[in-house]
Amino acid sequence: VKVYIPLDMAAVAMGADRLAAAVAQEAAARGETVEIVRNGSRGMLWLEPLIEVETPAGRVGYGPAKVKDVASLFDAGFLTGGAHLLNIGIVDEHPWMKKQNRVTFVRCGVIDPLSVAEYEAHEGFKGLTRAFEIGPAAVVEEVTKSGLRGRGGAGFPTGIKWKTVADCPPGQKYVVVNADEGDSGTFADRMIMEGDPLSLIEGMLICGYAVGASKGYVYLRSEYPIVAKVFQAAIEKALEAGWLGKNIKGSGFDFDVELRIGAGAYVCGEETSLLESLEGKRGIVRAKPPLPAHVGLFGKPTVINNVLSMATIPMIMEKGAKHYADLGVGRSRGTMPLQIAGNVKYGGLFETDFGIPLGVVVNEIGGGSRSGRPVRAVQVGGPLGAYVPVSLFDLPIDYEAFAAKDSLIGHGGLVVFDDTVDMSWMARFGMEFCAIESCGKCTPCRLGSTRGVETIDKIRNGMDVDANIALLKDLCHTMKFGSLCALGGFAPYPVESALRHFPEDFRKPALEAAE
Ligand code: NAI
Ligand code: SF4
Repeated sequence: VKVYIPLDMAAVAMGADRLAAAVAQEAAARGETVEIVRNGSRGMLWLEPLIEVETPAGRVGYGPAKVKDVASLFDAGFLTGGAHLLNIGIVDEHPWMKKQNRVTFVRCGVIDPLSVAEYEAHEGFKGLTRAFEIGPAAVVEEVTKSGLRGRGGAGFPTGIKWKTVADCPPGQKYVVVNADEGDSGTFADRMIMEGDPLSLIEGMLICGYAVGASKGYVYLRSEYPIVAKVFQAAIEKALEAGWLGKNIKGSGFDFDVELRIGAGAYVCGEETSLLESLEGKRGIVRAKPPLPAHVGLFGKPTVINNVLSMATIPMIMEKGAKHYADLGVGRSRGTMPLQIAGNVKYGGLFETDFGIPLGVVVNEIGGGSRSGRPVRAVQVGGPLGAYVPVSLFDLPIDYEAFAAKDSLIGHGGLVVFDDTVDMSWMARFGMEFCAIESCGKCTPCRLGSTRGVETIDKIRNGMDVDANIALLKDLCHTMKFGSLCALGGFAPYPVESALRHFPEDFRKPALEAAE
């Protein structure tokens, strides 16, 4: 019997390794033959560790399972899908799964992440095979037509980025994957690399083939040790199976992938400081232009894409641009893997077509706050994203709709807060975060963030509140338009949104009442 127990970091944090050992031990003691597969997570993080058992009716789930539950699971006949308090039924039929449209995450949690055969059996490498058939120029066109936009946060059209590199004169070019997933409340890159690493490798191969690059680097944040292990093993499996290396499957195309681990700086998620770090230097932002597409890694034309953008490419190539472009709203085409976190009842990974209202995600999918208190705000798009109040919960998940409200979707992370949150403190946190993580290259960010913390402290202490709020707004304006990169440029978003939507939290009587 095949028993699936995730190797995903969230599941491991909740005891999945101990659970797998206990299931193996109990099975041996009872003379049962089980094959334990360490899969990725399905994204229902409140159910981790989620054990799944293959039955003729489908995979039956049990979660959250602890070591102490193992004996009773065997007693209940879980190997044949028996009834048990932790039984959640057929996993694919679970409402959380049924409401999704999994495109990027279609295989995550389903297959053995390190089995090339299973990857192939689930449409793996079909996208690359089709790419080889239609040729590099048609691949770039297909990606452009799909409407895919950079999932790292900026939402720049992926096809146009690829075309810029493809149009550079032939010679050494690079593909770089940004896996420095530093935003608070985000974990989609980690999940896909733990649960379906071959999709990222296939995306890189398609990209390298399309733009004429023979070498790809993945820049991974050091806080993801399980990804490092799984992804390195996936590279080796792909090499063994002939999907990496020289003359891949007789196509004449050569491609290598190398994993590099960062040293733990948020700013290295910014593409130019990531390149500096990859080159072995300190991670400091480079001025743009020149764009990395023209002058990138080691001075060569370079495609830099986020993990999610790259891992979506195989599906687009396999199913065709139209299939993907038909999903979504406006200029936000396809699906977005939303990451629901913070004070929320059901947190996890939920992939859906663009256009779903924010309130539906928080209240219906996420089930509202975990504390049971009213939700007050959601920070969307990481620590530099705006705080969105409940009054804007009809905002659809759509790049343009969010931008129109001075907000951003970013990498798709949502952090939920209930009504006990102090928004002037959260504004202070935004500025403090920027002060700590600033690379120091430009003045608005380096000095502005520290002055911002000081000014918010004065406001919070009731000192000259009106004048200091005016000063803070002025400072935000300078940082927004005078900073060299998005770190300093976006730090004002949480501050301004807190001031705009929750002004009462910046007035001393309100602060005192809260204490
Ligand atoms: P950007 O708008 O400067 O650039 C977006 C991308 O398009 C870059 O790769 C750039 O090189 C490329 N590009 C722009 N014009 C081009 C052209 N004409 N031809 C080819 N390529 C072109 O944005 P940036 O500074 O790279 O990213 C900012 C975003 O990063 C923010 O929106 C924020 O949401 C996100 N972010 C994501 C984090 C994460 O953990 N994923 C962390 C922090 C911020
Ligand atoms: Fe460095 Fe901040 Fe300037 Fe970006 S905005 S270049 S992180 S100092």
